Amino acid sequence: MVEHDVIIACDFKSAEDTFRFLDLFKNEPRKPFLKIGMELYYAEGPAIVKEIKRRGHKIFLDLKLHDIPNTVKKAMSVLRNLDVDMTNVHAAGTIDMMKAAVEGLTREDGTRPLLIAVTQLTSTSEERMQQELLIGASINDTIVKYAQNTKAAGLDGVVCSPLEAGMVKEACGKEFFTITPGVRFADGEVGDQVRVTTPARAREIGSDFIVVGRPITAADDPVAAYRRCVAEFIG
Ligand code: C5P
Repeated sequence: MVEHDVIIACDFKSAEDTFRFLDLFKNEPRKPFLKIGMELYYAEGPAIVKEIKRRGHKIFLDLKLHDIPNTVKKAMSVLRNLDVDMTNVHAAGTIDMMKAAVEGLTREDGTRPLLIAVTQLTSTSEERMQQELLIGASINDTIVKYAQNTKAAGLDGVVCSPLEAGMVKEACGKEFFTITPGVRFADGEVGDQVRVTTPARAREIGSDFIVVGRPITAADDPVAAYRRCVAEFIG
């Protein structure tokens, strides 16, 4: 059975800023699931992951690995010791690379964190994909094909726009996870995101996890914004 959760994107530049934010949630019964991306990980290293785990949060380590299969396998076998709950690769690295990532991430007892893949970044337009990358298919066909490759390699799901979650579920089955950024409250600021949906609509379309950054991190009351997001997405 697929689980559902709201993942807060901790796009902070330092441990200090991150812990100032997390301290707001000290008395919350529900510990938020957090996404740590490249900026924070490269600034603070594995120590920040370990400290956030120690505080009882689940972690999605968003490092988007993309290299030759052997290098990705070895990198994943280091990351598996961090005991994160979810991490990712680029599906463009090929099925062989994704299979190597699964092997590297799998612990001796056979368990592993969830592993998901990025299909096409939402910053890549169909025009650029076709003209710069010489990928002739439509962007939607590419996303579906990359999602199918991800499933064939044995991964658990993909990151995609909420508006793409329905077609990914149709192609890969409803047990295949979709993790979707680009979520905004109906009455909130859109910022630099272009194709957005509300938490409730994301759930209707088929998102399993929504990744929400600024609507929570930049809110006047981040805890209230988080609770609202959970209420709208999970009910
Ligand atoms: O602040 P906001 O809610 O826009 O943050 C969304 C998060 O999801 C950011 O960490 C952003 O890098 C990430 N993301 C995204 N679009 C993608 C992949 C990741 O917005 N296609």
